[in-house]
Amino acid sequence: MATRSVELKRGLKDVYLDRTQASFIDGTEGKLLYRGYNIHDLAEKSTFEEVAYLLLYGSLPNQEQLDELDATLKSTRTIPEEVYRVIDLTKDGHPMDVLRTAVSALASFDPDVEDNTADGVRRKGLRLTSQAATIICAHYRARQGLPPIAPDQSLSHAANFLYMMRGVVPDEDEAKLMDVDFILHAEHGANASSFASRVTASTLADLHAAIVTGIGTLKGPLHGGAAESVMKMAEEIGDPAEAEAYAKRVLGGHGRIMGFGHRVYKAEDPRAQHLRDRSRSLGEKLGQPQWIQILDALVEAMAPYRARGIHVNVDFFAGSIYYLMDIPEDLFIPIFALGRIPGWTLQVLEQFENNILIRPLLWYEGPMDLEYVPIEARA
Ligand code: ACO
Repeated sequence: MATRSVELKRGLKDVYLDRTQASFIDGTEGKLLYRGYNIHDLAEKSTFEEVAYLLLYGSLPNQEQLDELDATLKSTRTIPEEVYRVIDLTKDGHPMDVLRTAVSALASFDPDVEDNTADGVRRKGLRLTSQAATIICAHYRARQGLPPIAPDQSLSHAANFLYMMRGVVPDEDEAKLMDVDFILHAEHGANASSFASRVTASTLADLHAAIVTGIGTLKGPLHGGAAESVMKMAEEIGDPAEAEAYAKRVLGGHGRIMGFGHRVYKAEDPRAQHLRDRSRSLGEKLGQPQWIQILDALVEAMAPYRARGIHVNVDFFAGSIYYLMDIPEDLFIPIFALGRIPGWTLQVLEQFENNILIRPLLWYEGPMDLEYVPIEARA
């Protein structure tokens, strides 16, 4: 039996995996920068297309560079007929399972699949950003027995996503809301899904494989799945006056309130305020203020947890926005995935730039050197 003692870092808490130029996160201050730019400036002044360029190329684009990226995104919104068939065959599954399966299937039709050069990875990352939107919308419609809607090349990425879902061009406010949501979700350091993507890339597998890994990892309720859980919770609460009792019940049973807490942020997640303000305005505009009121009441009920560094995270208000936009709850995580594709791509680019196989150790604590007993002799 090994007797050497080791320092275990369960959950890799507080472990720096590598250096990065992607994003800076100060969990104590609640500060987030993408490539040096504050998330507040990007959310208020930028567009998802600009942010995608910033993440993939390292600086904000000039007009010509932005136009080129926009044209690339627009020209890659189609998916092969075979992938529509995959979507149809799997349409009864959760949209995250369908997205993961369809992105995996896309690898078989992408001529660049094995191209791990920086240009190849960027090209595929942009293509997958566009194609993932098409997949999510085609599945949304297929499960209602409706045909897919062809993309509208005059629309931005966010507006076209809503258009391909509903067949109606969204108004400016809705398109902006979706755009901001994509910006806020675009990149976030070594979060679980990006880390998982980096592990896949570290074996020198390709971007499709890494993004399939990312999608699979994002699905869980401790990560991207929280937005779906938050809105289910709000529906269950039903009335702001019931929020406190609900929180007491869950916390008393050692449960967790979804949309609170974060591995890195011990202050409020800086992304949350943009979604809170927008959720409030949208709820008022639509005459449905009760959802934000329920969420506000939950924030109040969780006040004692602030001293322990447990605040709202990005997922807390995201769900209420999607809900008010009449988007079904099981699409909340795919929408997060859609925003995150540039971030996953950047993480893979960084991993490839200075690759090292990511392969930690597990400290063995099981029995040693047992005698093998033939099956006939076992009790
Ligand atoms: N509600 C109640 N208690 C909580 C919550 C919560 N949402 N989050 C953490 N805690 C408590 C834990 O019970 C634990 O208490 P204990 O020390 O008494 O046992 C303590 O805070 C530390 O929790 P850990 O899980 O060890 O902390 P970690 O940093 O690993 O947790 C996590 C991060 C998983 C996100 C956690 O806060 C959580 O489960 N939140 C709810 C799910 C959620 O909202 N996930 C989305 C995260 S954001 C994103 O992925 C985009």
